[in-house]
Amino acid sequence: MLVLGIESSCDETGVALVQAGGGAIPRLLGHALHSQVRMHEAYGGVVPELASRDHIRRVLPLTRQVLAESHRSLPDVDVVAFTRGPGLAGALLVGAGVACALGASLGKPVLGVHHLEGHLLSPFLSADPPEFPFVALLVSGGHTQLMRVEGVGQYELLGETIDDAAGEAFDKSAKLLGLGYPGGPALSKLAEQGDAKAFALPRPLLHSGDLDFSFAGLKTAVLTQVRKLGDQVDARKADVAASTEAAIVEVLLKKSLAALKATGLKRLVVAGGVGANRHLREQLDAGCARRGVRVHYPELALCTDNGAMIAMAAAMRLDAGVDVAVRTYAFDVKPR
Ligand code: KG4
Ligand code: ZN
Repeated sequence: MLVLGIESSCDETGVALVQAGGGAIPRLLGHALHSQVRMHEAYGGVVPELASRDHIRRVLPLTRQVLAESHRSLPDVDVVAFTRGPGLAGALLVGAGVACALGASLGKPVLGVHHLEGHLLSPFLSADPPEFPFVALLVSGGHTQLMRVEGVGQYELLGETIDDAAGEAFDKSAKLLGLGYPGGPALSKLAEQGDAKAFALPRPLLHSGDLDFSFAGLKTAVLTQVRKLGDQVDARKADVAASTEAAIVEVLLKKSLAALKATGLKRLVVAGGVGANRHLREQLDAGCARRGVRVHYPELALCTDNGAMIAMAAAMRLDAGVDVAVRTYAFDVKPR
């Protein structure tokens, strides 16, 4: 079974082809990605209308590229998968519309996938895939969640953010430091030259006794610190960045360890854009190694949004029998 996956929820157009069936973990045959980061940079964030228009321009050329690189043609595709949500409505509609048009014209079924399930299952695309069950730490620009994962489609939410997501905390703090968009990678890079102990920033809900997160207060604390520094902020930027990163990472680490302890599970899967953060990976690796826990990540290139994770999630849902692809092409998207 060949599954074509299309991701268009935000500012990356991603297309991929995976081969599934025979009980094995689906295999990635090819994927292509176009990032709109340069286009939105000047605006300091994603402009939804520009995003939708660019998805329209990119999605078919990327599809052709993936098929050519995989030595397959469109009629070989058995199922067309797309991101149904969450994401920007207009952007989602492009992927959904193209997927359903392809499905209808080829006479092949389509399947809408939850974007976060794509992130969650993306480590199965790596050379060292996890085994069920595991605890998952999902850290993206819009979500921060801890889940108990028993199998495909068997997800129990253990805790989540009550306000901002971890990626949002990175992005908003980076903006306060004038680092532009997207802020996470820029802040993380600058943090490498800074002193993480320079400023005592809050670790919200660290001792709350549950597995929830809160990052809105951290952003306010960074703002207060930046104002306090006044003219000296440029000279201390790296220190603020390092202190901010340390605060976010410490909370993610401690809550992940608490989730592992509460569930008794010995495997942790980390997924979503923030999972690309080097400091987070180092801390999780060290903290988990001490407790005999194995940590699995997606490949760095597949941490942020991509089509491979959508094709993979669709293939795994179909393989596991928890979902069926349909021949009704009246598509709906779920932005929230
Ligand atoms: O998963 P993703 O690509 O998109 C969403 O589904 O939201 O995650 C994007 C988020 C952004 O907030 C971005 O700043 C953050 O992931 N991010 C990082 C790093 N790379 C991406 N945050 C910290 N360090 C990084 N290296
Ligand atoms: Zn994402």
